[in-house]
Amino acid sequence: MKFGYFDDKSREYVITTPQTPYPWINYLGNGDFFSIISNTSGGYSFYRDARLRRITRYRYNNIPLDSNGKYFYIRDEEVLWSPSWKPAKTPLDKYECRHGLGYSKFLGEKNKCRAEVTCFVPDEVNAEIQILKLENLSDKTKTLKIHSFVEWCLWNALEDTTNFQRNFSTGQVEIEGSTLYHKTEFRERRNHYAFYHVNTALKGYDTDREKFLGLYNGLEAPDAVINQTAYNTEAHGWSPIASHFIEVTLKPGEHKELVFVLGYVEVPDKDKFVTNQVINKAPAKSIIEKFDSPAKAYASLQLVVNKWTTLLSAYQTTTPDDKFNRVVNIWNQYQCVITYFFSRSASYFESGIGRGMGFRDSNQDLLGFVHIMPHLAKQRIIDIASTQFEDGGAYHQYQPLTKRGNSDIGGNFNDDPLWLIAAVSAYIKETGDTSILDESVPFDNNEKNKASLFEHLKRSFDHVINNLGPHKLPLIGRADWNDCLNLNCFSNNPDESFQITENKSGGAAESVFIAGMFVKYGKEYAEICQFIKNTKEAQRAEIHVNEMVNAINKHGWDGEWFLRAYDFFGNKIGSHTCEEAKIFIEPQGFCIMAGLGLEDGRANTTLESVHKYLACEHGIVLNYPAFTRYHIEYGEISSYPQGYKENAGVFCHNNPWVIIAETQNGNGDRAYDYFTRISPAHTEDKSELHKTEPYVFAQMIAGKEAFKPGEAKNSWLTGAAAWTFVAASQHILGVRPGLNGLIVDPCIPKQWKEISVTRRFRNAVYNIKVHNPDGKSRGISEMTVDGTLIKGNELPIFNDNNIHEIEITL
Ligand code: GLC
Ligand code: GLC
Repeated sequence: MKFGYFDDKSREYVITTPQTPYPWINYLGNGDFFSIISNTSGGYSFYRDARLRRITRYRYNNIPLDSNGKYFYIRDEEVLWSPSWKPAKTPLDKYECRHGLGYSKFLGEKNKCRAEVTCFVPDEVNAEIQILKLENLSDKTKTLKIHSFVEWCLWNALEDTTNFQRNFSTGQVEIEGSTLYHKTEFRERRNHYAFYHVNTALKGYDTDREKFLGLYNGLEAPDAVINQTAYNTEAHGWSPIASHFIEVTLKPGEHKELVFVLGYVEVPDKDKFVTNQVINKAPAKSIIEKFDSPAKAYASLQLVVNKWTTLLSAYQTTTPDDKFNRVVNIWNQYQCVITYFFSRSASYFESGIGRGMGFRDSNQDLLGFVHIMPHLAKQRIIDIASTQFEDGGAYHQYQPLTKRGNSDIGGNFNDDPLWLIAAVSAYIKETGDTSILDESVPFDNNEKNKASLFEHLKRSFDHVINNLGPHKLPLIGRADWNDCLNLNCFSNNPDESFQITENKSGGAAESVFIAGMFVKYGKEYAEICQFIKNTKEAQRAEIHVNEMVNAINKHGWDGEWFLRAYDFFGNKIGSHTCEEAKIFIEPQGFCIMAGLGLEDGRANTTLESVHKYLACEHGIVLNYPAFTRYHIEYGEISSYPQGYKENAGVFCHNNPWVIIAETQNGNGDRAYDYFTRISPAHTEDKSELHKTEPYVFAQMIAGKEAFKPGEAKNSWLTGAAAWTFVAASQHILGVRPGLNGLIVDPCIPKQWKEISVTRRFRNAVYNIKVHNPDGKSRGISEMTVDGTLIKGNELPIFNDNNIHEIEITL
């Protein structure tokens, strides 16, 4: 590994060269104010919505890659350098970037001078704090000239990159002392502005990009920096920036710390201005005051660190595999929380101006963070359910700021409703809080049309049985989980979207995947009904679930695996009789997770087929063989070149379904093996090929039929985060919440002699130790709780704020 290493004790990934195979990023944020930050200090900040409240400017897919961010320039005699290497790109004597949980640190050394930049977003204010520590390592006094740099975005990130006829005339700033204010559009409808401050006197400043940079220069050599000066410019239109110019003198061995604050404030309409045109700076000043010394800033950073310690303590494990431990204990849970905040909106692959919150995505993300932040999970469920239609169908997406269904995209993705059952079931198992079912929740955000959340679940369930096709399997609609299996779309127009274009009517495309999902979540729905003593509804649900099982057995089985679907014309998809794509991953994982084939050997046959046709060194591909040409009757899936994305890529999101299926079939060795093929820590050595961050899962790794197998894309914001955490924590380690207790059912590699799990669950801590003297994978032979033998594999709900010791022998 030549790019970095894990520092598990500090919960950091330490990057040791700025030239990683792709920018390796981190997220800083407090739920409202966020920054995305790369290992060379690229990235941007925004408030809540990366499209509507973009604070600093970023240029996606720019050249050179990742070339806008929040930067420092240090001039030390003849040498000009940046602690994060970029933008000056002067070779450093030492470089390190430490991405931690909620903060990033850059360490640069040059010319016997050390600079450390620590960036984080505190919980208490909407700002990014940067602590710049400068140290003179030489035996001479040094006078350093420092320039800071951020470029403002004119708020709406889409307009900012398209509407230049307006933009170039609107920019406005104010300057007061060491604070540079960005107030574009504050004069009219906006009640927010941003500022960039440093807690020391300035030698100068710039707010006009052209003057600071020189019209034809890049960020590596701005005129102001090269000329060791500042022009004290006040921007009018064009592109406002904020750059402080500071001089720092350091005696040999001396160090100094400066605190920069990049803040965002909202001001009530009536208080916006102090005099005509002069903005009310009081709210900014109150933030600045909280960070006017390094001590205050470090104390606030410590709170961020402590917060993460508490959050992660909900689930911690020790197994013989350090890599597995660091994924489960630190990075996977961190990634799950990030997906809670961002769904699929803002990363280095999601531009922050495209997608809203996905109905299915957000429900699935919840499976990965509900144990960490159950109170936020409850609100999230209500928000999602509030966008549901009366007939149980769902908008495919909703907008985070308005929390309303996105009518540009609409609905009819027929798996969507069932994911709501998945999320609510996980929430109730985690918390025992069935009162959520009584919450009154609108349909389509119409406050005049409300029903209990329980009724919403019932409508989700019924939406499937009200939309069955000729084989009594669920109609697929626009698509199911696989957004690209568009069986009713028949698009021959490159200017339309596969997903939202008018669908052809009269077809009967059905999904075996949704059928499997219906069995799994239909059973969970029935269990919830039983639990709240609605026996009649439970029985009704069970009847439909059994009918679906019959339909799958009769029409969904291909002989050696489960079929994927029936197309518009009623032809089989994912069958050995097909010309291409004879087998798909999704129904194999989901049907077995639903319990199908476990008793009659079909699960085993299926998993052997998956192993034979779909598994490869880089993970399990989505389908095999890949589509080699466009099939109009299948839609977007066949639009991708073979081996990429939904066309036979390793779509990491659904690999855990097979991992879980393997554990249900008792094969702990294979479950673990599959996990290691996609796990970031286990594939760290492949970083040169993988390209993306070795500490988080990527959505997709190019499959075995790709031009370049093993190359990963779309890191961070993916359902792979939640599902791999579910697979590892609940199924390999086997500690999962049930309605009546904490279930323990590990399915581990045979060679693991001992594992332990600490799980916080319903106001108690469970210290679980599993001994495996006989080299088994699964099956408990003995279990004691606080010294007392108990039968079965379910631990009681203690709810007593105590710690309980559980000893298990397999
Ligand atoms: C993307 C989408 C997700 C979908 C998957 C497969 O990850 O966000 O909703 O299920 O692709 O198409
Ligand atoms: C494309 C992608 C798919 C994603 C969808 C979201 O179809 O291939 O992964 O889910 O866009 O709209």
